[in-house]
Amino acid sequence: MIKIIHGDITTLAVDAIVNAANQVMLGGGGVDGAIHRAAGRELYEACLKVPEVRPGVRCPTGEARITPGFKLPAKFVIHTVGPVYRDGNHGEPEKLAACYRNSLALAAENGCKSIAFPCISTGIYGYPIEDAAKIAVREVKEFLAAKNAKDAERDVACPHAPNGRAGAPRTPQIDVIFCCFSERDADVYRRILDLV
Ligand code: APR
Repeated sequence: MIKIIHGDITTLAVDAIVNAANQVMLGGGGVDGAIHRAAGRELYEACLKVPEVRPGVRCPTGEARITPGFKLPAKFVIHTVGPVYRDGNHGEPEKLAACYRNSLALAAENGCKSIAFPCISTGIYGYPIEDAAKIAVREVKEFLAAKNAKDAERDVACPHAPNGRAGAPRTPQIDVIFCCFSERDADVYRRILDLV
């Protein structure tokens, strides 16, 4: 199920909130700063423990890392790093799409039943909200459709399987929330949700 709300992501009691981080992954401004302030010092310490893949880079652009939520109402924080927008012709769409795909995959791997996204890259990183929202909605819809198809396959009766069902048990449904920090952004997402 996909929901669009206007609100502060740090207040959401969901299984995971996604942080629009930077590659160093030790906090910053925008939603990154808000999440670190609300989660408390332990989040900084948990991020410090995330191994660097190269000097000064814990999470390369497009990838995602997971930590506990500590003082946040959310159980987990999934940190992802969006692309800095230049002109849309330097791989930004692909990188932004990867942020959503990798965050959803990490949420599913950790048994999350609900996940909230901010509008990744549309603040300090300058991504135009319309273009970013189209990518976000498309990636979430594709992920949920693929997941439902896989679950449907598992539900195919399989007389030889111990529980009469093929494959592993179903993974939990995931509710996805787009948490927009302005009503304007929420309106863009609502319009695009019907189009994409
Ligand atoms: N809840 C939900 N959304 C928020 C919140 C909040 N509390 N605070 C800000 N936002 C929104 C912004 O309004 C914007 O729509 O998050 C979206 C992403 O903006 P940024 O936080 O600026 O993130 P981004 O554009 O991805 O830039 C990332 O900014 O904060 C630094 O360390 C971060 O270097 C990284 C860069």
